[in-house]
Amino acid sequence: MTHIAPSLLSADFANLAGAVASVEASGADWIHLDVMDGHFVPNLTIGPPVIAALRKIAHLPLDTHLMIEDPDRWVDVYRQAGADTITVHAEACRHLHRTIHRIKELGARAGVSLNPATPVAAIEEILPDVDMVLVMTVDPGFGAQTFIPNTLAKIRTVYDRLRALHSHALIEVDGGIDERTAVYVVQAGAGVLVAGNYIFSASSVKDAVRTLRERAEEGERRRATGEMPRIV
Ligand code: DX5
Ligand code: ZN
Repeated sequence: MTHIAPSLLSADFANLAGAVASVEASGADWIHLDVMDGHFVPNLTIGPPVIAALRKIAHLPLDTHLMIEDPDRWVDVYRQAGADTITVHAEACRHLHRTIHRIKELGARAGVSLNPATPVAAIEEILPDVDMVLVMTVDPGFGAQTFIPNTLAKIRTVYDRLRALHSHALIEVDGGIDERTAVYVVQAGAGVLVAGNYIFSASSVKDAVRTLRERAEEGERRRATGEMPRIV
């Protein structure tokens, strides 16, 4: 079953506890946390102290997306703060193999992410080792951007490669996911949907999560036909 991971990036930062409570009451699976350092991406968000505070009140797994330079220096700190999944960007890692294995040693789920312009070839050699691949469906840095349709082919490429490896790694997608694009990305192979703007701009977080889940189920049915999504 497809996982739904609301991103707190679009929540009210003056009331993160309220956002966590509404996400947990909605039946979502994970809480997605966007860490931005103002260098790897042109925006600045939260870091370890905020994550440690959220860890104290949250029951769901914390899915931590590190959009930062030199993540090697920081993965221990984020694990200590309470991150359950730690995803690093392939573009930010000089020694990706070392970083992924350090995350696993720390007992977290290890994810690797690709920006829209980064080819799947960049992670070919590390694919057998990862627990998750995060295919960015917008350029990272901001919420509420428009989904990039070319990323569907990349999702399918990752899906095919993982299957060929008999890997159970999850494919996560992040950026511009809504009730329309959710169907396409799941049909292409996504197993985890991150959504910020769609969920937090809705009048009800619960209804938005329910709708995404229904749309994901439609995507799963279409995937079973073997056809690639056609955007209409
Ligand atoms: C973008 C972040 C996303 C963001 C998605 O850089 O990684 O997690 O919150 O935002 P939406 O769902 O608003 O496109
Ligand atoms: Zn993210």
